[in-house]
This record gives sequence, structure tokens and C-alpha cells, in this order.
Amino acid sequence: MIPDISKLLRPHLKNLKPYSSARDEFAGEAQIFMDANENPFATGYNRYPDPHQKKLKQKIASIQHVSEDQLFIGHGSDEVIDLLLRAFCVPTIDEVIIAEPTYGMYQVSARINDIKVKPVKLTASFDLDKECILSPISAHTKLIFLCSPNNPTGNILNPDTIHTLLKNFNGLVLIDEAYIDFASSPSWVTELGRYKNLVVLQTLSKAWGLAGLRLGMCFADSTIISVLNKIKLPYNISEPQQQAALKALHDVKKKEREVKKILAQRQWLTEKMNDIKIINHIYPSEANFLLVKMTDARAVYQKLLAGGIVVRDRSKVVLCQNCLRITVGTTEENEALITLLKKL
Ligand SMILES: Cc1ncc(COP(=O)(O)O)c(C=O)c1O
Repeated sequence: MIPDISKLLRPHLKNLKPYSSARDEFAGEAQIFMDANENPFATGYNRYPDPHQKKLKQKIASIQHVSEDQLFIGHGSDEVIDLLLRAFCVPTIDEVIIAEPTYGMYQVSARINDIKVKPVKLTASFDLDKECILSPISAHTKLIFLCSPNNPTGNILNPDTIHTLLKNFNGLVLIDEAYIDFASSPSWVTELGRYKNLVVLQTLSKAWGLAGLRLGMCFADSTIISVLNKIKLPYNISEPQQQAALKALHDVKKKEREVKKILAQRQWLTEKMNDIKIINHIYPSEANFLLVKMTDARAVYQKLLAGGIVVRDRSKVVLCQNCLRITVGTTEENEALITLLKKL
């Protein structure tokens, strides 16, 4: 089934004429800029940034082997999630399906936009159940949120089930790959040519070490990307963001070295935690964190905090009773964590 993106789009956006900024209307070389009411005295930031982030897009597109019109850059993945909801879901009428437990912003963003949420539980091993994910789909279901590797469970979702969804669902399937650099399986970006309804999210916040910068990447068919470009704020990515990201993206090797260290530390932490009595289970992880089942997660959380170590208490989250989510730190940080856990 090939969904017609123009039919999925909210009706009032079909003929929307987007805001055209001064820098949209100018193309070519100029020495004197008197078009955007900027202050002419140089501060380093007195000019508006490139609204289309051309250089940054070229760089990301070459790393990911996609064309630039298959790429949208957001102010963090969170901006992309919000824009997708605003573009495709009519408030109070349309619905999204969210496979839970997962990253909380899908649900929050949908609720902010007054869009109905149909939560679907993952299986006990945190995977997709084909029937469960297909059965709630209605004529008003526009988006299905999947996260792989999933946060907070750390596992990859079964690719066969995702292929089935992509083939049978007449809306968009969003696969959030915030943690893909830590995983052993390939990205869904390679499947973009095959599925018009596939939307892949990645971020510079995790493996790339740029959470403070706020840069998310959305890969999808050019028809979906052009919708996001149409409704985004004109200058959603600032000049310092564009510059710093470009600089970091030139050093892919640095990112790879750090990922390798984090993976080795994830293994080390797993082995050490296996010997700690208060820990009942360490779930296998394809991400830079471990989901760990304790006898009394809340008590452990409080004691770690008293010792100066903050982890994420996920014990109230569906299927995650008594679980803490622990991000892999530096060697020293991980040693401090193990020392403290051993004392509890
Ligand atoms: C699955 C997932 N997606 C997205 C994000 C947020 O990404 P960004 O920093 O690009 O907004 C997070 C942050 O924890 C996450 O876990």
C-alpha cells in the first residue's frame, strides 16, 4: 500500500503559502545586505542564519547516503515530533498509536496538540506484537510511533513486524533511532526508497555528544520533508547550532571512538552488576543505557542520589516495575556507580 501523502496532510495545510523570509527570496552572491533589517555592525551573529541549513544538510546527507530533499533538521528530535503531529493529525479527530513503554515525548506532544493517543503495550520481552499493533488502526490513525532501539528498554524492535506495518498501514510509521549508533543492527534510513510512509528520526544528542546543541534529523520521502519545511519556523536552526554541528560532523572517527568506549563500558557495567545482589535482572541493551530490575528500585534510586549519582527511575512505567534506567558514563563514573551499588 503506498499512502498518498497529500491525502494524509491536514486539509488546511494543502494550499498554505509558507512565510518567505528575506533570505528565501535572495539567491546568488552579494556584498551588501540591506534586505532583512539586521544590524550592519559585525558581532559574529548579526546576520540571520541560513533558513534551509544547506551546508549542514549537505554534510548529513553525505554521511547518511540520502539526498538533501529526504532530510529535515529540527531543533532537537522533539521539534520534529511536534511538527509531524501538527502536519498530519487534526486535533480531537485524528489518532496516533504509541508502542509503550517508550520515550514519553510522543505522548506528551500528541496531548499538547490535542490528538488522541492509542497506547499499545509491547510484549513482556519489549517487542512488537503484530496483532496488537495492527488491531487499533482506524481510518483516523495517522501516525504510529516506534522507537528502536527503544527507550527505556534498550532493545531493537522486530524488523519483520515493522516491514508488515509499513506495507499495511496507510499512515506514517515513525521509527525513532536516537540510539542507533550504539546498536548492532542497521538503520531504517536504508529502506527509505522502499517505503513512502517511513519516517526515521535521529539526533545529534546521543552518540554525537551534542545534546546541548539541540539538533534532530528526520529522514523521509521528499513529499513529507517538503511539508515539514513548509510549516517550520523560518530560522529554526541558529547560526551557532549550524556551525558547531558542521564542525562536529567532520570528525566521524571521534564519534566512532566514543561509541566504542561506551559499548565496552556497557559490557563492563553489565558484568559488574550481574554480581550485585540487589539487582534482579539486567535487560540486554543496544543503546547507551541499561534497564535494570531491582528488588526495590525507589529505595536504590534514593540511596544513589544521596551518594551523588542520579539515574532515571522508571519503576512507574508500564512493564518496568522496579526498574532503573542507567546511562553508561565514563570509566570513572561507572566505577563510582558500582562501588556505591555494592555498598547498598
Ligand atoms: C528515543 C528518544 N528520542 C528523542 C530524544 C530527544 O532527542 P533530542 O535531544 O534530539 O530532542 C530522546 C532523548 O532522550 C530519546 O530518548
